[in-house]
Amino acid sequence: MSESNNSPDVQPDERASNQNRRRFLTAATSAVAAAGVVGVATPFLGSWNPSEKAKAAGAPVKADVSKLEPGQMVVVEWRGKPVYLLHRTAEMVADLPKLDPELKDPNSAISKQPAYITGDDRSIRPDLLVVVGLCTHLGCAPKYRPEVGAADLGGDSWLGGFFCPCHGSKFDLAGRVFSGVPASTNLVVPPYSFEGDNVVVIGVDAEAA
Ligand code: FES
Repeated sequence: MSESNNSPDVQPDERASNQNRRRFLTAATSAVAAAGVVGVATPFLGSWNPSEKAKAAGAPVKADVSKLEPGQMVVVEWRGKPVYLLHRTAEMVADLPKLDPELKDPNSAISKQPAYITGDDRSIRPDLLVVVGLCTHLGCAPKYRPEVGAADLGGDSWLGGFFCPCHGSKFDLAGRVFSGVPASTNLVVPPYSFEGDNVVVIGVDAEAA
C-alpha cells in the first residue's frame, strides 16, 4: 500500500501500476497478492456508514473510490456480504469482449444484475467494477487474480479475473463465469449508484438516485 492510500478506511488487496507490471508479476508475487484478498472486508469511510445493525438490515453503504489506482481492488461490506470494487484499466475493459466465446453467460441473460447494467463490462462506469464477492457456486470468496498469463489459470489465455479456490470456478474482470467450472452464473452485481464522481453508493439503484 502506498503512502497516498494509507487511509485506515481503505484496505487494498492488489495494485498494478501499469500493464507491463501486470504482465510480469511473478507467480510468488501473485500468490501473495491473491492471499491479500482473503479476509479483507473492511468498509471504508466509516463515518459515513450506518450502524452495524442498520447495515445488516440493508442500509446503503458509501465508498470513496477516488484513491483507487488502476488495477487496484478494495472490498466493502454491504448487507453482510463482501462487495468488490475494482478500478479497471482501459486495457482490462478492452479485453472483455474477446472472452465471450469462453463464457457460460457472456450477456448475463441468466445472471443477477440491475436492469441498468448492460454490456460486457457489466458496470455503470467501465473503469469501475462493482460485484458481490461471493462465488455463485457455493458462496466462497473468489480471489482477485489480475496477472495476465498466470500459469495456474490457463497461461496465455488468462487475461485477469477472479478465481474461486473452493472448487475452481473462474470469472473474468467483469465477474462473468467461464465455461467448464462449477459455478453456473456470473458474480452478482448489486444495486448501486454514484454521488458525484467518486462516491459509490451500494444499495441504492442508479435510476432511483
Ligand atoms: S464455491 Fe466457488 S467453485 Fe464452489
